[in-house]
Amino acid sequence: MKATLITGASSGIGEEFARRLAAEGHNLVLVARSEDKLAALCDELMLEHKITAHYVAIDLNDYQADLRLYKETVNHNFEINWLINNAGFGSMGYFGDLDLKRELEMIHLNVNVLVSLTHRYLNLMVEDGEGTIINVSSSASFQPLPFMATYAATKAFVTSFTQAIAEEYKPQGLRVLNLCPGATDTGFFDAAGMDEPVMIKGVQTPDEVVDAALKALEKGKSSVISGWLNYLVASAASVSPDSMVTASVAKVLRPKVENGPGNETGEEEE
Ligand SMILES: NC(=O)c1ccc[n+]([C@@H]2O[C@H](COP(=O)([O-])OP(=O)(O)OC[C@H]3O[C@@H](n4cnc5c(N)ncnc54)[C@H](OP(=O)(O)O)[C@@H]3O)[C@@H](O)[C@H]2O)c1
Repeated sequence: MKATLITGASSGIGEEFARRLAAEGHNLVLVARSEDKLAALCDELMLEHKITAHYVAIDLNDYQADLRLYKETVNHNFEINWLINNAGFGSMGYFGDLDLKRELEMIHLNVNVLVSLTHRYLNLMVEDGEGTIINVSSSASFQPLPFMATYAATKAFVTSFTQAIAEEYKPQGLRVLNLCPGATDTGFFDAAGMDEPVMIKGVQTPDEVVDAALKALEKGKSSVISGWLNYLVASAASVSPDSMVTASVAKVLRPKVENGPGNETGEEEE
């Protein structure tokens, strides 16, 4: 049975992809750690849209989790013709103060797991002569982000990698999209230990992000920045000297870090 695999489907952008694609008749394989949320979402979508929805509750940072996930889809005879690599998280703070284990787990999930799953499913899509891969990057991928250094670097990898393979596999009939949301109203900020989105203006809903992705796919694009404000900021950053961009970002983020929930002293800036 043909199916769409979505990682990080228990909340936020991934959950919205699941809802939208179920409504379009896709069968789904939903992946995340929160089994209760996945089970409830599968039940709801199967009932409402008469599709098959299967979930795999797994920590993708566990040893060989991507291989176990791949085997589970093969054992259930799912032919994954849409893959949405969406699971990911960030962190914010002075790099040296952040938990090293968590930074390394972030690199593993945002980069290694995305590359592994892309590799595992892409060749099956090539054999079929069709397939769609959406890799969820970020508007953070276009410039270094002081105080979110590791996160922005993982997303820079995702953007570069995804745009490259999009071009490689066009002749084989694959659609590969690099999706770059800006600040979006999801559980991302909680998970990153932030009390609010970095940008207050232009925060998007998951629905708007998924809309941008599906429209971009229809138009045959290989990369999309969701939201005109995010597009403008990314465009401005791309034509400005790096030192100017990093200094401006640091100016916005430093006070948030120094007064933020992760700060032991909680000292106010003058
Ligand atoms: N929100 C934003 O402002 C924003 C902006 C740009 C890019 N993005 C990107 O959008 C993607 C989705 O994030 P979101 O904003 O929708 O945040 P979210 O609501 O926190 O969703 C993250 C998803 O990833 C799953 N996940 C996290 N760690 C996992 C692990 N170790 N194993 C398996 N699943 C895991 C979470 O499920 P469980 O906790 O149940 O495992 C959840 O379903 C991420 O790649 C993020 O970097 C977000």
